[in-house]
Amino acid sequence: MSRAIPNVVSIAGVDPSGGAGVFADIKTFSALGAYGCGVVAALTAQNTQAVAAVHIPPTDFLRLQIDTLFADVKIHAVKLGMLGSAEIVTTVADRLAHFDAPFVVCDPVMVSKSGDHLLARNAVAMLIEALLPRSFMITPNLPEAGVLLEQRAPDTVKEMYRAAERLREMLPLSSERWVLLKGGHLPGSDVVDLLFDGDRMIEMPSPRIETKNTHGTGCTLSSAIAALLPQHAGGFRSVEAAVRDARDYLLRAIAASGALAVGKGHGPVHHFHALWRA
Ligand SMILES: Nc1ncnc2c1ncn2[C@@H]1O[C@H](COP(=O)(O)OP(=O)(O)OP(=O)(O)O)[C@@H](O)[C@H]1O
Ligand SMILES: [Mg+2]
Repeated sequence: MSRAIPNVVSIAGVDPSGGAGVFADIKTFSALGAYGCGVVAALTAQNTQAVAAVHIPPTDFLRLQIDTLFADVKIHAVKLGMLGSAEIVTTVADRLAHFDAPFVVCDPVMVSKSGDHLLARNAVAMLIEALLPRSFMITPNLPEAGVLLEQRAPDTVKEMYRAAERLREMLPLSSERWVLLKGGHLPGSDVVDLLFDGDRMIEMPSPRIETKNTHGTGCTLSSAIAALLPQHAGGFRSVEAAVRDARDYLLRAIAASGALAVGKGHGPVHHFHALWRA
């Protein structure tokens, strides 16, 4: 494990309730030993119950945020979250290519836990065409996998295997790339995620925690992976270890969420469960 503290940036939306988006991503980076930076790709008016409105910044301003940050700070990993529009997607893809950004973890956020649409429909094609080629790992949930593959969402673990294989084919074939297909939407006492690099299919089961505090689980998981990838890099089976540690961190954060009292809907997970011992 490298000893240097990595600089990790979240390029995503802002959720003022702090359970998802850039704020949650920075909490996650901070809890896991990474220095957190944030680029705001969308503003939302949101709480634990619903997304009331979305404001997308001008693409020139987004570009300037990225260029100004990368001109000064060496970035060791990037987490991509809500990108909102086709123009935002292409701008982010263009700048990541320009700076040859390492360890890009793309969480292809499309719909919020409260059921609100967060990505314009015409942006999906741009995501596939411009952003997937730049991504080291993608972390779709099952409905997102269905949209990317233009099929219905997988609804068995067997269908998840096939979907993970097809998703891997959408990433560059000649270099190391990973799919983490999240099975949180399947019913059952276990949650099964699949990690696939085109060669090894790694099944990652864990007990389902009974709670409604699942606001930002996907944001937290992809950020934890981005924070840990540079810290594990170079190790034997380092990507698998980073994902296992990230899932472990998230599970504990979900399990400890009852200590928080934030909102009346899907509450946030406890990002600092390991630090704030009573
Ligand atoms: N109740 C739960 N107990 C344990 N693990 C869970 C639970 N719900 C989700 N997970 C895990 O959390 C991670 C995120 O999965 P999920 O399917 O919720 O992502 P998502 O739909 O993208 O989340 P979000 O709505 O925050 O974007 C996955 O690793 C999943 O297995
Ligand atoms: Mg998600």
